[in-house]
Amino acid sequence: MVGIGGSVDAGSQSDRALRAALSTITDLGAEVEVFSGRGLDLPPYPSGARLPEGARDYVEAVRRCDAVVISSPGYHGTVSGLVKNALDYLEELRADQRPYLDRRAVALIAVASGWQASVGTLATLRQVVHSLRGWPTPLGLAINSSVTTFDQDGGTPDASMAGALEVMAGQVVDFARCWGAGRPSPS
Ligand SMILES: Cc1cc2nc3c(=O)[nH]c(=O)nc-3n(C[C@H](O)[C@H](O)[C@H](O)COP(=O)(O)O)c2cc1C
Repeated sequence: MVGIGGSVDAGSQSDRALRAALSTITDLGAEVEVFSGRGLDLPPYPSGARLPEGARDYVEAVRRCDAVVISSPGYHGTVSGLVKNALDYLEELRADQRPYLDRRAVALIAVASGWQASVGTLATLRQVVHSLRGWPTPLGLAINSSVTTFDQDGGTPDASMAGALEVMAGQVVDFARCWGAGRPSPS
């Protein structure tokens, strides 16, 4: 499982929500790698050119994985440039046997300081994942960081959101077990 997202800001809530989801996913038995905040501080995706050094591990991790968690802050009503640029690098998987996010469950989290941007950003993430041939989990999380906060250990006093996070983590792990690379192709 690969986690992608966060922001470069100290105490990033989208980073903390991502790590909270990955922690639950680890408890369910998955191995996780995370590329968040500064770990995604890549130059604009250079289509067709040699990949910058820092991008190779990231692209290879997604190539290997069975499922993905994406957590974007809502910036000006939509997915942040940092996260979108990281998703643009998945163009490198275009010619793979499993192109882009094909046959991978994708759990989605959108965090903004208001509902309009969090809900809108979640919808946009789903749209991007569909175009990358990924399978968004039935439950995605729109988090309003003015209402719900995560501490640095991934804890939140919002029991309802903690429960939703567990449900989403269960969905992405179940799907990865059913559809992961080791499973026979349905076609
Ligand atoms: C450049 C920028 C644009 C933002 N735009 C919005 C916005 O349009 N709507 C909103 O509710 N919050 C907006 N925010 C607030 C973030 O969504 C908020 O801080 C949230 O917690 C996610 O960012 P974080 O992961 O850095 O904590 C913006 C923040 C920044 C830095």
